[in-house]
Amino acid sequence: MLSHLLRLHGIDSIVLESRSRDHVEDRVRAGVLEHPTVELLCRNGLGERLKQVGLKHDGIWLSFGGVRHFIDMKELTAGKSITVYGQNEVIRDLIKARLDAGAEIAFEVENLSVHDLESATPRIQYRHNGAAHEVVCDFIAGCDGFHGVCRPSIPDGVLSVYGRAYPFAWLGVLAEAAPSSEQLVYTHHDRGFALFSMRSPTLTRLYLQVDPEEHIDNWPDHRVWEELKLRMTTRDGWSPHEGPVTQKSITPMRSFVVEPMQFGNLFLAGDAAHIVPPTGAKGMNLAIADVAVLARALREFYANGRRVLLDQYSESCLQRVWKVQRFSSWMTSLLHRNACENPFDRRRQLAELEYVVNSRAAMTTLAENYVGLPLDND
Ligand code: DHB
Repeated sequence: MLSHLLRLHGIDSIVLESRSRDHVEDRVRAGVLEHPTVELLCRNGLGERLKQVGLKHDGIWLSFGGVRHFIDMKELTAGKSITVYGQNEVIRDLIKARLDAGAEIAFEVENLSVHDLESATPRIQYRHNGAAHEVVCDFIAGCDGFHGVCRPSIPDGVLSVYGRAYPFAWLGVLAEAAPSSEQLVYTHHDRGFALFSMRSPTLTRLYLQVDPEEHIDNWPDHRVWEELKLRMTTRDGWSPHEGPVTQKSITPMRSFVVEPMQFGNLFLAGDAAHIVPPTGAKGMNLAIADVAVLARALREFYANGRRVLLDQYSESCLQRVWKVQRFSSWMTSLLHRNACENPFDRRRQLAELEYVVNSRAAMTTLAENYVGLPLDND
């Protein structure tokens, strides 16, 4: 996304990716685009397939005690909505847009390292197709995820690290089944959280809260369906349609932020700098918000020679990052069963669920965060 935005400002970039093109285009990840993310993609020429096959949603269901409650996002946010469109579909559109514009993307690069980060000419070394390469550039954007090399290349003592792990994980499945609800259903149940989502009119995406030590082999398909039905079936008889499971994986959950998100001429963006727990589907939206800030700062630098927006990059991003951290950890604690909770915490949690679905003020707070806080740049 950064590379695409930079090109629109006339700035060259090279994208270095350790995985194969097939891998990044096919790997199923989260699938909810915030209103501002959709606007940004559309405004920058990336809206064609998104408008055709993305599923626009005006609200979500919150389900607990066997009853579903509708949160009408559109009505509560003066017309905003979210769009269900897989992260890998966004990646597919971006790769196509970049390659169509003649850009350089090197897939399956190996042994990547970054150097001279504080100099005016930072360097990236890597191997590609068996040959050693070096890029000397003005800036490096570390968009290489939580396990990438960029963040650990910043000297010790520079970054402050904030975070927490959660005592649960998500088991996610993709099933060849027509979605049985037009909207997402977030379920809180005595046995744990469950989420009903979708990818298309024929594909259902489902998640179950499981123990973080849980192994996927302990979850044959029939057990997944049994648990999903136990948690999700509501008193009015609603439950997900069953179908063949085509993908299944377990994802641990954590909250994580480093400050600052920059060092010299290296700028961290997305999961390289921060992780949110998945409840509320903010991860990719936050990464896109970061690179929108970075693209604007780089445009200012190349157009006017001013570093001021680059110097403010971290501060600008972190304002949004912390608000999204707050929201994601709140959604997580609202909806999951926590083995460490005492009976007081449990009662408080149930009261909070009741409050959220009965107070217009509380629903509005949920809705304005869920559809996405405004991006303060273009
Ligand atoms: C999806 C993922 C989420 O984390 C979420 O909150 C809603 C939907 C999804 O993958 O469809």
